[in-house]
Amino acid sequence: MEFSIKSGNPGKQRSGCVVVGVYEGRKLSPSAQNIDAASRKQLAEVLRRGDLEGKLGATLLLQSVRGVAAERVLLVGLGRERDFLESAYRTALAAAVKALKTTGATEAAICLTDLTVKGRDIAWKVEQAVLCVMEGIYRFDRMKSKPPEIKRALRKVVLHVANRDEIAQGQPAVNRGLAIAEGMKFAKDLGNLPGNYCTPTYLAEQAQELGKRHGIRVDVLEQKDIEKLGMGCFLAVARGSREPPKLIVLEYQGGKRGAAPVALVGKGITFDTGGISIKPAPEMDEMKFDMCGAASVLGAMKAAALMKLPLNIVGVIPATENMPGGNAIKPGDIVTTLSGQTVEILNTDAEGRLILCDALTYVERFKPVAVVDIATLTGAMVIALGHIATGLFANSDPLARELLQAGETAWDRAWHLPLWDEYQDALKSNFADFPNIGTRAGGSITAACFLSRFTKSFPWAHLDIAGTAWKSGAEKGATGRPVALLAHFLARRSAA
Ligand code: BES
Ligand code: MN
Ligand code: ZN
Repeated sequence: MEFSIKSGNPGKQRSGCVVVGVYEGRKLSPSAQNIDAASRKQLAEVLRRGDLEGKLGATLLLQSVRGVAAERVLLVGLGRERDFLESAYRTALAAAVKALKTTGATEAAICLTDLTVKGRDIAWKVEQAVLCVMEGIYRFDRMKSKPPEIKRALRKVVLHVANRDEIAQGQPAVNRGLAIAEGMKFAKDLGNLPGNYCTPTYLAEQAQELGKRHGIRVDVLEQKDIEKLGMGCFLAVARGSREPPKLIVLEYQGGKRGAAPVALVGKGITFDTGGISIKPAPEMDEMKFDMCGAASVLGAMKAAALMKLPLNIVGVIPATENMPGGNAIKPGDIVTTLSGQTVEILNTDAEGRLILCDALTYVERFKPVAVVDIATLTGAMVIALGHIATGLFANSDPLARELLQAGETAWDRAWHLPLWDEYQDALKSNFADFPNIGTRAGGSITAACFLSRFTKSFPWAHLDIAGTAWKSGAEKGATGRPVALLAHFLARRSAA
């Protein structure tokens, strides 16, 4: 997709389709007023007939509007003007792209970037527009025997802004948006690919491919290397599977040589059956998404490389399936972690923390300035925050604030949950140092408590993306979250 930014008269913009907004109460946005004037009040006439009230997300396509250079005019409802904030802006863009796809237009001029969104500048609006367009045109049809052929796809998008200054301010935002969109697409493709294709080996290959293309150093540690290291907990999870586990290590050197890196650790369970503590059948297919944390690490590193961030970044991905099998771990088994602490595995379905704890101990060797792990860790997260916010836990308040801020800026938001000492009491074992599960109450917090026992030597944050990494139902599919949050976090870090 090609993006450009222009200012000037929307009515004179030559294009397959010009997109303008209408607020509730049939109130024309400034660009819509411009089109209305050019067409000698044709828009007002159409609206009077009652075909579009201006409800948020409603659309109306007009052909060959008189006096307008574009072949089509797409009207998009914006909802009430005073409620036109970030989420409405994104909804309007998504609706516009959805409608555009049903037309034959290959080029569109979108006059929504020129709308006022309180508290947001042109750079934000442009970046979000790029992300919404890329999200809207995303398809995953790799597994269809006959992928639907799209004859006239949208190829060029012009984003309309108010003036020349905004063109200059918007340009870097187009590039940033495209870098993030590419990272998100990478993460989505990996997430959507089924477990019989997206194995630990495949993830490792994809990481190597990414490394080659972007000059990122990639090491893949094999089972025997992982054994030599002593990652007893990671290996315990891998025992039940026929697929060999991989520890994928990526090093992006955009910063000064020897400068301490930021580390990203991603849960890479390519399928989670629950193991011997097996999951119920309904919706188990969605456990192919249990590697979305890993995918977000790869996506964020891709975005960082595309943005050429002057920062050193280490990505660590423990990748394995969680399967029941003759060799699988059993409830009650006790294993020794890389840190030396012993864990009583009371539930083999709490496997994410078992692979992450060893990966977290492993990153110590890079002496990171900060460590962020990303994991589809607990079903309880979905109960707590639903599908809107990612759960954030941290042993450092400044790091938590940075991530919250990055999420706000990227509109890929997280919510800070407590990690108070009182919660640690849930993790008590009669036999090992501690068990891998706590009480049902506060399940996401006790999972984070477990991880916190492996993060004593660096500022650390944990993003539980169980509710945000994918959508269920008719729109089932990976979301690419939290690549945008991570990309902004890394960009901010590299600027500091
Ligand atoms: N991958 C799951 C978490 C999950 C479940 C994410 C459903 C999204 C939807 C994780 O490995 C898991 O199974 N967690 C258990 C932990 C429990 C056994 C303490 C859970 O949440 O049920
Ligand atoms: Mn599980
Ligand atoms: Zn899992």
